[in-house]
This record gives sequence, structure tokens and C-alpha cells, in this order.
Amino acid sequence: MNAADDLRSALAGLLDGLPPRQAAQAVERLISAYRGATPTHAPILRDRADAAAYAAYRMPATFEAVHQALTAFAEAVPDWTPGSHTDLGCGTLASAWAVTATWPGERPVTVLDWAEPALALGRELAGANPALGRAEWRRSRIGPALTLEPVDLVTVSYVLNELTAPDRAALVDTAAEAAGAVVIVEPGTPDGYARVIEARDRLIAAGFRIAAPCPHSAACPIAPGTDWCHFSARVSRSSLHRQIKGGSLAYEDEKFSYVAATRHPAEPAAARVVRKPQIRKGQVLLDLCETEPALRRATITKRHGDLYRAARDTDWGDPWPPAGHPPPGDHA
Ligand SMILES: C[S@@+](CC[C@H](N)C(=O)[O-])C[C@H]1O[C@@H](n2cnc3c(N)ncnc32)[C@H](O)[C@@H]1O
Repeated sequence: MNAADDLRSALAGLLDGLPPRQAAQAVERLISAYRGATPTHAPILRDRADAAAYAAYRMPATFEAVHQALTAFAEAVPDWTPGSHTDLGCGTLASAWAVTATWPGERPVTVLDWAEPALALGRELAGANPALGRAEWRRSRIGPALTLEPVDLVTVSYVLNELTAPDRAALVDTAAEAAGAVVIVEPGTPDGYARVIEARDRLIAAGFRIAAPCPHSAACPIAPGTDWCHFSARVSRSSLHRQIKGGSLAYEDEKFSYVAATRHPAEPAAARVVRKPQIRKGQVLLDLCETEPALRRATITKRHGDLYRAARDTDWGDPWPPAGHPPPGDHA
């Protein structure tokens, strides 16, 4: 089994013991806590039921989003594997699981959160993942007083939203000082994207280059307020997940924004598909972010032969063109 399957069965096992009504009530509580004002002065995940509800309701989706972001990052740094990892605002460890799914094997791992129930539940789930067996569990508040040991990779997923602007800035600066690579994932909303761009600017100012999703480290070509760069990860729902979330769909699509930055050499994609490709009769329309940096719609038609076949298999978030094809400027 891979890490994604192991996580699914660990979650199913965890929730076996939780009566569905109690789980549903905890999910309701969480949803209204997240609808209320964030940041909060105290952790939202207050007890085991909250942490279990978060794990059932959100963790499969945050895991898939982070895994997709890390996979794009790994493609841009093919000769690099993190020798150590720190996850900030780890919750129930979605990002730690995603790192082991992207780069299998053991490495020193530190996970940090201010919510003890999240750490405790994360530790319980991590029992099913041998690569997380020796993780260091740190209960700390993210803020200006946070200090970090030097580490290869820092991940921060779905956390910036819960911090004040000064704490967000302190977090990114502290991560940049300690790490060789930083990956930040946020919800794929206009606000989530704005927080990612703010972090991206700080990382570039600290000497990092962008490895993914952007093909360049120049300013984002999206005019502020006109659009937002985001991607989509398909999350299959277990029957338990369906029961907690309601509805009968076998899957859901998690929208997310992200940035992966590194101090090491990187080979970012020549261009990236930044919207769902539109497949028409005899043609595929791809919205690309290119190295100019510019946004452009490419029309790939049947007369492009192999490239057309490749375009039909290309997904939102993929690099373009596929390996072995000439760079985008040379065709439609
Ligand atoms: C939405 S959850 C995300 C959890 C996990 N990273 C994921 O992707 O599923 C946000 C987490 O950040 C933690 N958090 C929020 N503010 C924090 C702070 N100031 N210091 C430490 N942890 C914080 C919360 O306790 C929670 O576990």
C-alpha cells in the first residue's frame, strides 16, 4: 500500500469508534468555527472530537492538495530529496503524510502546532506510517517568537488564514531563514491566493527561486483583484467521508493555491496549465502561464499531431509542453 491508502485506512479505523452523530456534530462545530472570525486567540481544535472531525472532514482533501503541490515541486527538482522536514501548523499531519507520499523513506521530521488534541490525534494516525514513527512533536505558537532549527524542507498548509498579518510575515521569514525549500498551500480562493502571493514575494526577497507552480520568479502576471491562480485535486470519498460530508458523490474537487520555493537549482516548467483545459472537437484550449511572464491561451489542433494527443491527456496544473516537445512559443 502507498501512503495515501495507508492514510485512508488509518482514518477509517480511527472513525470506526466514533458514533456518526457525534462526528456530524463535531463537523458542524468546526464549520461554524471556521466561518467565524479567524485568526482566533486560542486553538479551534479544542478536544479529540474536534481533531477527529477535522481529520475526517478535511484531512483527505488537504493531503491531496499538498501531495499535488509537492509532486509539481519534485518534478522541478528531480535530483533533490529532502533530508529533513518540518511541518508548521501541522494539525493532524496531512502535510507530513504528503511528504512521505512524495519522497518515500524515513527522515528527521518535526511537526508543530499549538493545538494539543491535533498533535495527539496526528500521532495516533502516524502510527500507521513507519516514516513518521520518530517524528518530534512540538507544541508551540506560531508568531514572532518562533524559532526553527535548520531543515531541508518546511511545509505550511492551510495555516496562513489562521494567522494575523504580522504572524504570517514572521512565519514566512522564520521558515525562509531555516529552510532550503519552503512549500506553502492555501485554499484556492481569492484570499488564499493573495496570501500565497504575499508569501511568494517574501520568499523571493529572501533569496529563494520559485520552482512551482510558476515557470519564473518574476512578479505574477495576474493583475491584483482580477483573477486568482489556483488548482484542483480530486479527492475520493470513503463511505464514511460521504456520510460525514453528506451527498452521494464518490469524489470531490479540492481547490488550492500554492507556492514551492527553493534555494537550490530548480528547473521550473516552461509553462503551466492554469485552468481546466477545454476539449473541443478537434482542438484543445490550454490557458498557460509562461515565462514572459505572461498568460496566454494556446489552441492545439489535430494538425499538431502528437502534441494534440498530449494536450488531450493534459490536466489543469500540469507542465506544458510534455517532455520531448518544443517549448510553447514554437507552436499555436
Ligand atoms: C486548517 S488546520 C491545517 C492543518 C494541516 N496543516 C492541514 O493541512 O490539514 C490549521 C492548523 O494550524 C494551527 N494553528 C493555527 N494558528 C496557529 C498558531 N498561531 N500557532 C500554532 N498553530 C496554529 C491550528 O491549530 C490547526 O491545526
